[in-house]
Amino acid sequence: MRSKKLIALAMASLMALSMMACGNSAEETPAEAPATEEAAPAEEAAPAEEAAEEAAEEVAEEVAAGGNIGICIYKFDDAFMTTYRNALQEILEGKGYTVTVMDGKNDQNEQNNQINNFITQKVDALIINPVMTSAADQIIATVKDAGIPTVLINREPTAEQMAAYDKLVYVGCDARQSGTMQGELILDTPNKGDINGDGKISYIMIQGDPENIDAQYRTEFSVKALTDAGMEVEELDLQRGDWDRNKGQEIAQTDLSKFGDQIEVVFCNNDDMAIGALQSIQAAGRTVNEDIYLVGVDALDAALNEVEAGNMTGTVLNDANGQAEAAVAAMEELLGGKTYASGEQSIYVDYVKVTPDNVGDFK
Ligand code: GAL
Repeated sequence: MRSKKLIALAMASLMALSMMACGNSAEETPAEAPATEEAAPAEEAAPAEEAAEEAAEEVAEEVAAGGNIGICIYKFDDAFMTTYRNALQEILEGKGYTVTVMDGKNDQNEQNNQINNFITQKVDALIINPVMTSAADQIIATVKDAGIPTVLINREPTAEQMAAYDKLVYVGCDARQSGTMQGELILDTPNKGDINGDGKISYIMIQGDPENIDAQYRTEFSVKALTDAGMEVEELDLQRGDWDRNKGQEIAQTDLSKFGDQIEVVFCNNDDMAIGALQSIQAAGRTVNEDIYLVGVDALDAALNEVEAGNMTGTVLNDANGQAEAAVAAMEELLGGKTYASGEQSIYVDYVKVTPDNVGDFK
């Protein structure tokens, strides 16, 4: 639909432009006009025609840009990235783009091949969720060589890395914000997380993939919010759960049998691990919001249900739709010829705290 509209638009603009060009040359170079220096027909006509041609090329480029988009996701088997990629696909297809989405299977080499294949196929733009943040330099060099406008999502490279290519932007969230909000969710409880009243908040931290800045920041800033508020904290355990529900369940199970009632708070870097942890909490006969607190990030549908039912203390909206909209908007700007100055290549979408009071707004 949209590409047809674009083509029609392009044709109309082309016609208008060539008419303008013809009109100008006709006006300025009437057949019977004397061949003076100021009005040399051939020389006068050329710039107008050139301008028309240039403009036509631009329009044609825009039409071509409406074509094929390659999307690389770090792995399909990730709850949040599944919501995100579905949103991307829906928005892009709704706009008339042809979209191909690849599963990196958590393997950077696999993803590199997929990026190279997209380049060989001459896609108009790429949207890439890198497998490894550490691969950013190489990914950026590859897309720059190929001259393909690229939006990186979900795993943020450094500003210095992005500065290498001005047709590249990052769309994501500032994970410090989500960590802080997790801490605030605990501070908002009646006993500020100190259930047994011993003057300190004893917690376990179930971390995502520690290579990921989201995992690092959420881990750091959730606890920082507590200490900034003057609370004493005790870390009973910190384990990597790689964003995975089963690992969240296993880690919580082990820790609950090891530390028992000492655990007052279970921090999970994402909801999928929190849902897993909840299974173990319930299996251990503990009750969230009575004798233990549990928080996640993402606002997956399953987590929203648990927050509503009182089985999770809260979560933080990681706005998949908002990020997908922002990524597509950035991609379209790049396709329209916009370039980004170094230091201005990150576009952030806000996180939002989700509690039983406002959970209805997110369902
Ligand atoms: C995080 C999200 C996680 C996981 C991760 C993948 O932003 O909270 O659930 O999807 O991205 O990089």
